Amino acid sequence: MSQYAKPPIQPFEISLDIPTGALSPAGPTLIRKLSDLEGCFENKEAFQSEVAQTNPIVYQVISSLVPETARELPQSITTIYPGSCGDELYMTKGHQHPDPQGEIYYGLEGTGGIILFDGKEKKWLDISPGKIGYIPPGWAHRSINTGSTPYKFLAVYPGSAGHDYGWVLAKGMGFRAFDSNGKLVLKDFVI
Ligand SMILES: [Fe+2]
Repeated sequence: MSQYAKPPIQPFEISLDIPTGALSPAGPTLIRKLSDLEGCFENKEAFQSEVAQTNPIVYQVISSLVPETARELPQSITTIYPGSCGDELYMTKGHQHPDPQGEIYYGLEGTGGIILFDGKEKKWLDISPGKIGYIPPGWAHRSINTGSTPYKFLAVYPGSAGHDYGWVLAKGMGFRAFDSNGKLVLKDFVI
């Protein structure tokens, strides 16, 4: 056993079923409903109305059994469902890594993108099946479904990176992504 390994983590295989996003063996599954994205969408009236009416699931994250601890490389499969709130496309909450470390996203199904923001500069990366998006240390990141089918991607990240959601709520995300008659429109994020 490696000097870094803590039982019971040993080398192991993980099966991925892309149509369902399921991992086997699997760790926890996180379900985010629209109400869990308070403060994320620009149109507050549309948000409150849709939460009160249907409060749909916006995305889910299935994690592997690899723990979020230093030196490990956990993975997760995120599925963002198609849809929008006040024409703003369904998104993840977005986060910054409290411990600045890089991450990769790998497109599995559907079409989407990553908004990246380092507090000054902003970037958009198109992600589709087979494409890798690289998130450098220090860049907050949020994923968007730009299509009409579920958008799935694999994330691989350092286990000690952490997730700071408050950073995005306080500093914004650089861009907002909207649907305009089936086309993606990026607008500047106004705090
Ligand atoms: Fe991340």
